[in-house]
Amino acid sequence: MTDNKSVFIKTYGCQMNVYDSERMSDTLAPLGYAAADSPESADLVILNTCHIREKAAEKVYSELGRLRVMKAARAAEGRETLIAVAGCVAQAEGEEIIARAPVVDMVFGPQTYHRLPELIDRVRAGERPAATEGQAPARPKVVETEFPLDDKFDHLAAPTETAVRSRGVTAFLTVQEGCDKFCTFCVVPYTRGSEASRPVARIVEEARRLVAAGVREITLLGQNVNAYHGTDEDGRPVGLAGLLARLSELPRLARIRYTTSHPRDLDDALIAEHAGNPKLMPYLHLPVQSGSDRILAAMNRRHTAADYLDLVARIRAARPDMALSGDFIVGFPGETDADFEATMDVVRAVDYAACFSFKYSPRPGTPAATMDGQVPEAVKSERLHRLQALIEAQQTAFAERLIGRTLPVLFDKPGRLAGQIVGRSPYLQPVAVMAPSSLIGEIADVTIEAALGHSLIGSLAGEPAAARRSA
Ligand code: 5AD
Ligand code: SF4
Repeated sequence: MTDNKSVFIKTYGCQMNVYDSERMSDTLAPLGYAAADSPESADLVILNTCHIREKAAEKVYSELGRLRVMKAARAAEGRETLIAVAGCVAQAEGEEIIARAPVVDMVFGPQTYHRLPELIDRVRAGERPAATEGQAPARPKVVETEFPLDDKFDHLAAPTETAVRSRGVTAFLTVQEGCDKFCTFCVVPYTRGSEASRPVARIVEEARRLVAAGVREITLLGQNVNAYHGTDEDGRPVGLAGLLARLSELPRLARIRYTTSHPRDLDDALIAEHAGNPKLMPYLHLPVQSGSDRILAAMNRRHTAADYLDLVARIRAARPDMALSGDFIVGFPGETDADFEATMDVVRAVDYAACFSFKYSPRPGTPAATMDGQVPEAVKSERLHRLQALIEAQQTAFAERLIGRTLPVLFDKPGRLAGQIVGRSPYLQPVAVMAPSSLIGEIADVTIEAALGHSLIGSLAGEPAAARRSA
């Protein structure tokens, strides 16, 4: 049964949550749920949450505070609103969310999204008798945080062509989910469960659909994407390198990326694929977290700083223009000044194109949260500040080195100025160019003229400068 309702999904955290939110809307569309522009106009509000750091989780509770007021205002106008919390906070906190925020009707974890229609029915079925009797009993709440054995991807709605068209030129595609690495700081193995890879045929089919609808660049997602180990149509094992080779056969697919990788799982086959596959973009997100072997051991990363630098050297030998990005945590329990200096040394040695860096945030239930030697907040702040200054300088220098070079840019949207369009460089930087909007969805050579913060300004290669300016 369908009815005309609307849903607003607010997404926090990583790209996998972005992908999951899209799949949730695709799953709700056949039930009559159109996308709402704001929570105020929605019958169902889903917060797709992130638990990776304390701040990310706290944002959810402040948003729930706002939603409480909104729900009451809508109720005064006789309109019902269902409030759902999905994602990693839902998985980690379950019932506690409802205890802390009674406005919430439904809590469901990342492995249950394919059951969304049934979960909504359960909440709504519970309220119907109350409406006829005119007496509202306490609203039934639904909490689902099981890890079912069936593959959610087999049951989640595939992206429809219309849905894909409205999403544009680039798309995410989850190929692997969960993590078995158990880094001692990290909630992911608890919120996303153990590593699971989707079969090759399903991924190729989804990619084919995306490409048919106009997608030119796909980013394969996995918490530990290079641990991908699927099976092909004949039941043979396929690693990430093999999957990338298969996807590259799609003619209109121009670019492929993947994220996030663990250094331990980056094998020679994948490095060779980078050397030989021109569709694979020369940009790799390869977190190391710390440059101190002592801290790396306490983090259970199972590699040393030298292992990481050696890996980076082998990748760059295979693909000399490879740009690297990383993640860093400062103030992990027990981190001394010397440990932190070792991190700064690794950053200097790698010379990153971009980086994400965070203060260590103790996460309930993870081993590091109860380790001795928790680092004072002021020390974390000071280290983060220094690290970010170094990273910022590297990022700016990387962008400035591109000035004067000609790069292939995949255009994906109109720019802020009239007559301008924006695309991405191979290194994931936004590039703004005065060019006809008919180039959106296409790759064109662009000569880079300036670097502004983290974005680049250029002009179509071969065009005289005056024409570019007056365009
Ligand atoms: N505290 C701070 N940063 C963390 N990350 C993961 N867990 C924590 C934590 N407890 C960072 C790591 C990871 C990125 C996604 O988030 O750097 O690579
Ligand atoms: Fe956040 Fe990790 Fe969950 Fe992504 S998988 S939403 S980063 S906690």
